[in-house]
Amino acid sequence: MKASAPGKIILFGEHAVVYNRPALAVPVAQVHADVEVVTSPRQGIWINAPGIDLHADLAALPADHPIGSVIHGLFHLLKLSPPPSLEINISSTIPVASGLGSGAAVSVALARALALYLQRPMSDEQLNALAYEIEKLHHGTPSGIDNTVITYARPVFFIKGRPIETFKVGMPFTIVIGDTGIPAPTKESVGDVRRLWTEDKDKFEKIFDDIKQISLSARRAIQDGVPGQLGSLMDQNHELLQRLTVSSPELDNLVVAARNAGASGAKMSGGGRGGNMIALVEKEKAETVAQALISARAVRTIVTDIV
Ligand code: MEV
Repeated sequence: MKASAPGKIILFGEHAVVYNRPALAVPVAQVHADVEVVTSPRQGIWINAPGIDLHADLAALPADHPIGSVIHGLFHLLKLSPPPSLEINISSTIPVASGLGSGAAVSVALARALALYLQRPMSDEQLNALAYEIEKLHHGTPSGIDNTVITYARPVFFIKGRPIETFKVGMPFTIVIGDTGIPAPTKESVGDVRRLWTEDKDKFEKIFDDIKQISLSARRAIQDGVPGQLGSLMDQNHELLQRLTVSSPELDNLVVAARNAGASGAKMSGGGRGGNMIALVEKEKAETVAQALISARAVRTIVTDIV
């Protein structure tokens, strides 16, 4: 049985989303996690994940291993005891710790493939809830946006704890994603924002409110088919993320390089300090902007159309 899940990128509202403000995120289909579950001739549940150099029996994994936690969580949820012999092959083209949701995508693809193999297919809602539990184990206090957009594989307007809302794209638009190559320490940046917020709630609540207005305007612009407006909204959102202290010199450098190369706007995306930034571009400028990002020391770029 095979299943896969896409990567994701946050367009607007990261960090503020942890404080119940809305955020917008979209799947990135160019990168994905793929899982295959087959019957194995040997006893036990054998896991192969060559990308992270993991070749091990489930029983030998530490209790809090993310992959082991998904498998145990699924058996628990479905009230099944583990079958005697299975082989699970996991591969992913999503760069790890870059803000593209590699962990959540592996969780979703793994649970989906295993549930299909066990002939107990799960609803997206169940899968999302399981993936969220795993995110919580490993990322502290996540909002749940990453697992949600990856599970549903659709553009999502997300408010923590609310039923999921997708949004329509009135006119397709193109973004370039640039990776600093520096691992994004999301748990750390979310923790730092929490400390700053505790010390000066008025100041930080105001920043979150300003980000909320940007996310609401962005949703309207996307739905109304005027994506050109997103450029300046990205620039404004980036400045507010700088004030939250979650950008970095490398991210700022790529954001400036994208703007100088003709992008209509740019911002960091996700947890920050490392990981990715995004730039809004006219389709015919995408390659020029991607090249400029590589010249400014991005390790990788992805051009993606939001449709
Ligand atoms: C991480 O992809 C997005 C953050 O807003 C954290 C979260 O929503 O859990 C930084």
